[in-house]
Amino acid sequence: MKGIILAGGSGSRLYPITKVYSKQLALIYDKPLIYFPLSMLMLGGIRDVLIISNKETIPLYEQLFQDGAHLGISIRYAVQDAPNGIAQSFLIGEEFIGSDPVTLILGDNIFYGSMEYFHDALKRPVGATIFGYHVTDPERYGIVEFNKQGQAISIEEKPEHPKSNYAVPGLYVYDNRVIEISKNLKPSPRGELEITDVNKEYLLQGQLHVQKIGRGVAWLDTGTPEALLQAANFFGVIEARQGLKVGCVEEIAYNMKFVDDAGFDRLIRSIPQSLYRSYLEKIERE
Ligand code: TTP
Repeated sequence: MKGIILAGGSGSRLYPITKVYSKQLALIYDKPLIYFPLSMLMLGGIRDVLIISNKETIPLYEQLFQDGAHLGISIRYAVQDAPNGIAQSFLIGEEFIGSDPVTLILGDNIFYGSMEYFHDALKRPVGATIFGYHVTDPERYGIVEFNKQGQAISIEEKPEHPKSNYAVPGLYVYDNRVIEISKNLKPSPRGELEITDVNKEYLLQGQLHVQKIGRGVAWLDTGTPEALLQAANFFGVIEARQGLKVGCVEEIAYNMKFVDDAGFDRLIRSIPQSLYRSYLEKIERE
């Protein structure tokens, strides 16, 4: 399974934070936002990752993660010239994906809580899996409609009159056909290659699984200043209470056994003296 983090976009709702670089470098309590989607892929056991962003931000991600070897994973980078839509990920990433299945996560989406829904999706060999999450403001998202048997029957992008409250989060698991399907897409009226159109095609072929995510899971999207602050507060509360970090990619690399004891020790020693390093030293001692 390959993993793509789409981490560019116009970020107009976060201007001027996004004047110089894209929003996935913005702060969520004690770390850059992009640590969270990267953590999610790593916790799914995905070790081959492509980060897609604009040309201004790619060099900054490269400074942040290099080639990923210190985390026991491979990270590559690709430029999206303009925010031409989420589905463009599969055209930019075609060579990277090769003949494998691929998970796409949006760089500003954070998931917290049990990960069973994701692990189940990763086990499914054929088709596409997307998720449904109950929200108060369905007009802002891609929305799934279910029939009485709980099967998905329609998906609409930002509907004026939503047919349900189930929004599609920015986490999608596809078989390799996603490349061909994306190649056949036409830009939407807003000029983007729409991920909703990819999902509609899978639905048409009877190959779309929509798994509902329950209230035990927090899905936060961080597109506005208010949402950024809420996410920072959310993780600040959890980290202060537990003394454990969320989205700490170094710790995850160790727990997932992507790095061994010696590798973890090297990794810690490469980090400057900081609260973050002290935390990792504590994990190592324990
Ligand atoms: P959006 O929330 O749709 O848009 P945006 O980030 O450009 O922000 P705004 O609406 O404030 O202008 O994007 C969802 C995520 O996908 C976000 O992480 C940015 C990323 N993205 C790209 O990297 N390239 C794209 O072409 C699009 C559409 C989104």
